[in-house]
Amino acid sequence: MREGFEWGVATSAFQIEGARDSRGDCTWDAFAATPGKVADGYNGDIACDHFHRRQEDIALLKNLGVNGYRFSVSWPRVIPSPDTVSEQGLQFYSDIIDGLLKEGISPLVNLHHWDIPLWMHELGGWDSPAVVAHFRFFTEQVVRTLGDRVTRWMTINEPNCLIGDGYLGSVHAPGLSVPQDRALPILANLLHAHDAASKTIRDTIPNSKITVAFTGPLWCPRDPHDPNCIEQARRKTMGLQTSSLWNFGLFLHPYLHGQWHPDTATNFGVLPALHMPNSENLDFITLNLYSGEFVDANGETVPLKPGHPVSAFNWPIVPEIAYWGPKFFKEATNRPILIGENGLASMDWKVLDGTIPDLMRVDFLDRHLHQLQRSIEDGANVIGYHHWTLLDNFEWQEGYRKRFGLVHVDFETQERTPKASYFHYKKWIAQNDNPSQSCQ
Ligand code: BG6
Repeated sequence: MREGFEWGVATSAFQIEGARDSRGDCTWDAFAATPGKVADGYNGDIACDHFHRRQEDIALLKNLGVNGYRFSVSWPRVIPSPDTVSEQGLQFYSDIIDGLLKEGISPLVNLHHWDIPLWMHELGGWDSPAVVAHFRFFTEQVVRTLGDRVTRWMTINEPNCLIGDGYLGSVHAPGLSVPQDRALPILANLLHAHDAASKTIRDTIPNSKITVAFTGPLWCPRDPHDPNCIEQARRKTMGLQTSSLWNFGLFLHPYLHGQWHPDTATNFGVLPALHMPNSENLDFITLNLYSGEFVDANGETVPLKPGHPVSAFNWPIVPEIAYWGPKFFKEATNRPILIGENGLASMDWKVLDGTIPDLMRVDFLDRHLHQLQRSIEDGANVIGYHHWTLLDNFEWQEGYRKRFGLVHVDFETQERTPKASYFHYKKWIAQNDNPSQSCQ
């Protein structure tokens, strides 16, 4: 990779922190307490106990050799009730920043990874315009505390998952199943909150860099040499051709330009007014790489071969997304791109000799990073790669059943054991290149 490339990992507050007793409740606490919502009835009360084990976890980051780390701030840990600011909660994040900087690890602070304070939910949550002022207030507190040491900020992770899975759907908290026509009003609230937060950040930290993490299906051409096929993949990835929320065009356009994508009305009907005077503040794009499909020159989906590799979620593994995703995003946004998440849920466990030989994750890393290298060589402006994720964690509706970590966590003892993939990623980072190839 090029000089100065950022090698990192990403985590999120609710999925690792635990220590519920020292924060306010959030929608995921209530959701997990509802029978049938989270596998085996698990919750995030303890999770990876990262709140108490932060030093051990920062040592794992140091040993891995990363120079970047994204984590999220729990809104109810900082604002446990509408008018209360928890200095203890802020101190926790301040300590993390100090710990990271001491090890030469550059923080990227994410302000929202889906853990809506319960009090905010009772005021309407993201479905109420009142959320904008509350999110601005929360941002002000975090920025006032961390802004002397943090320049890189993300306002939200994957707005489409929050709306699609948590509001329109019921697989994520708050799980409301609201009618489809609420999608754009909720998105407008998210956009206005982003706009207000980005102004707060920029006013306080003039040299700040602001981002949002986007995700969705990335389409790859079946024939990478056929211009028609490539064009179909580009249009399906970046266009706005359906009313699905897993649609980059719907989200990217307003975050970049402060206006709805011109095709939005065709698929979504009435457009709520947008007022985003600070939309030029989006400095770089965070792209979370998960799902991919192939398309032919007629725009038809190409079925995968029988037995195509899949993750423990049954998601097909399509490493080509790490080539085409950054390429299409560069063309559409002309902004630097950080790969903000990319990872594998797999069936790994500690074998009899005490090691965790997660060879499928090792191979997953190699295949995706190899494609990413090719994309960069072909001109994509990719500034870094963050693997999802450091620790096996609370995997939302799957509870603790699905493991995404480079480090295995025994959820009874909280013992951390680095897996084979941790050591392999460490080599990639140390050599700034593919360790397998450079050994040949
Ligand atoms: C990302 C989220 O979409 O996917 C993570 O940002 C999450 O929080 C990861 O853990 C894994 O996938 P899923 O399907 O469990 O959300």
